[in-house]
Amino acid sequence: MRSLLLHGLRGVRSYSMSTVEQAKRAAAFMAVDQHVQNNTVVGVGSGSTVVYAVERLTERVKNENLQLKCVPTSFQARQLIISNNLVLADLETCPELDVAIDGADEVDAHLSCIKGGGGCQTQEKVVAAAAKKFVVVADYRKDSERLGQQWEKGLPVEVVPFAYKPVAIKMERMGFEPVLRMAKNKAGPVITDNGNVILDVKFDATQERDWKQVESDINNVAGVVEVGLFVGMANVAYFGMEDGTVKTRTP
Ligand code: 5RP
Repeated sequence: MRSLLLHGLRGVRSYSMSTVEQAKRAAAFMAVDQHVQNNTVVGVGSGSTVVYAVERLTERVKNENLQLKCVPTSFQARQLIISNNLVLADLETCPELDVAIDGADEVDAHLSCIKGGGGCQTQEKVVAAAAKKFVVVADYRKDSERLGQQWEKGLPVEVVPFAYKPVAIKMERMGFEPVLRMAKNKAGPVITDNGNVILDVKFDATQERDWKQVESDINNVAGVVEVGLFVGMANVAYFGMEDGTVKTRTP
């Protein structure tokens, strides 16, 4: 595994960054550099790759005095924006964004994405849909020919809590295998930022599918808030690669 030694001040610890983390950082930095300018309204996604995008936004605000407004997609994103002293905005004051930058759990050859590994797909989709451009940042492990090749945990589906059982039965009848996502360090299910639960809906990855249709079929089930399928939304994906380069994909 290639690793980069990051040196702090003399006497302060230095640490190495794994190849995967370097890849996430390279992708996020390039995306911010290519899609953010002065006065940009930015949607800030959720997850571990977006942390690097916020690092770069913060650096550029300091170095270039950029005036940005940042709209979060989750509790985590809100905290990232606030703790880095970026300007926090919301969809009420900024209903139209210039760009949304977000991670993904898997991206296929057509830029269809599975999102929601962190349970934030509903706000992420609303923010992405309100943006002129949706930019995905990811490391090489997320790059797939077809969905399900790399990501084996299924489609994250946010569901209102009282409906989880009937929704699960409907998913089974649609040929899927739903699993209620359970919390770690808390008894019971994961509760989303919107107060809902998540069904991770496993699917047979060998089957050819029309993902737009799957997205609409799942979203049409009563009780479903949002499925983490983003089809026809991404304008570009940046993949940080193992060799330190960044690969881009456009539709
Ligand atoms: C959260 C998401 C994240 O964007 C996705 O899970 C990727 O996260 P990471 O950058 O940590 O791999 O959709 O709901």
